[in-house]
Amino acid sequence: MNAATPEAVALAHRALTHLRNKTTDQAASTLTQPIEAYTDPVRFQREVDAVFRRLPLALALSIELPTPRTYRAMTVMDVPLVLIRGDDGRARAFLNACRHRGAALCKDGQGRMDRFVCPYHAWQYDLQGQLTGLYGASTFGEVDARTHSLTELHCEERAGLLWVCLTPGVTFDIDHWLGDFAPHLEGLHLDNWHLHAQRDIPGPGWKVAWEGYLEAYHHNTVHVNTVGKFTIGNLSLHDTFGPHQRIVFGRRSLPELLDQPEDRWQPDVHIRRIHLGFPNLAISGVLGDHCLVSQVFPGPTPDTTVTRQTVLAARAPTTEEELKATEAFSQIVLQAVRDEDYAIGATVQAALRTGANPSFTIGRNEPAVQHFHRMVARYAGSP
Ligand code: FES
Ligand SMILES: [Fe+2]
Repeated sequence: MNAATPEAVALAHRALTHLRNKTTDQAASTLTQPIEAYTDPVRFQREVDAVFRRLPLALALSIELPTPRTYRAMTVMDVPLVLIRGDDGRARAFLNACRHRGAALCKDGQGRMDRFVCPYHAWQYDLQGQLTGLYGASTFGEVDARTHSLTELHCEERAGLLWVCLTPGVTFDIDHWLGDFAPHLEGLHLDNWHLHAQRDIPGPGWKVAWEGYLEAYHHNTVHVNTVGKFTIGNLSLHDTFGPHQRIVFGRRSLPELLDQPEDRWQPDVHIRRIHLGFPNLAISGVLGDHCLVSQVFPGPTPDTTVTRQTVLAARAPTTEEELKATEAFSQIVLQAVRDEDYAIGATVQAALRTGANPSFTIGRNEPAVQHFHRMVARYAGSP
């Protein structure tokens, strides 16, 4: 829980002003998005290539590689890769493909390893990707180890997250990419949390799924029995940091602040901050000592996604009660996303095929949705 920082107090004031006036942060105007923005396969490919294959993506939490020699292998949008922490403490990313004839070096999952040993013909690599051993070397013939290292993907660790570009050879400056969003991410202290659960959830198309993370307009309707119970619908604060964003919801308890002297405020009990890393990372503190990290990845076509949900607790549970509370949080966010957001999203996806809507109108009260679409256009050159 954040202390009552001046920033938190200022956010609470902004939220209270909206509460009193029945208002919310707004964009200057509504935004019209042609339906092709959601359906056109050519546009989809161009956007995915420009946004997801060229920009840094937060692929894992630092706590997923807690010590040297721990790894996390995953397939992200058809790219098999492995993240591994070296003995020097540095996390690196490699394509999960042997330089002999391409076999995957390990299965998707996580664990600990001292070196990579290919399961096909047992070539060996160290944790920095150098080819160190060739089974039957005297029979194989010449191989230049210097040109047969594992193919590395640019990887940087910042704010408790591992940022990777999926295209080999494409580099980035993570400090430039995060800009003034970095201190906000760092303020979450993600490397101090405890990882409780992680799962992949199928969902509707990339933009349909992601829009649901960007507004509070639907909270009192879609989530009336889950996360909506805790937040005030259609009230949100909106701030942008380059392509990245933060939205803040008011919790139902927000009006209690009206009766308290400001020097007694604990604003973060009454607001909920959601940090949104462009293009697909949402970090959401829903309830007190729990946090949901969501990464939404486009599927192979415009109409599907896979969402990795990671449930964090402020600390490892030490009692049955704490464990139950964390599991209850885990279940409520699973239900809210899978059974509510993505169930509605499936109906949107179905409508996209019917021609019912030539375009969608994004409201003034959905400024983060608007900003997201504008950023896609900026990076992919879409209209
Ligand atoms: S493919 Fe890896 S050793 Fe042959
Ligand atoms: Fe939702």
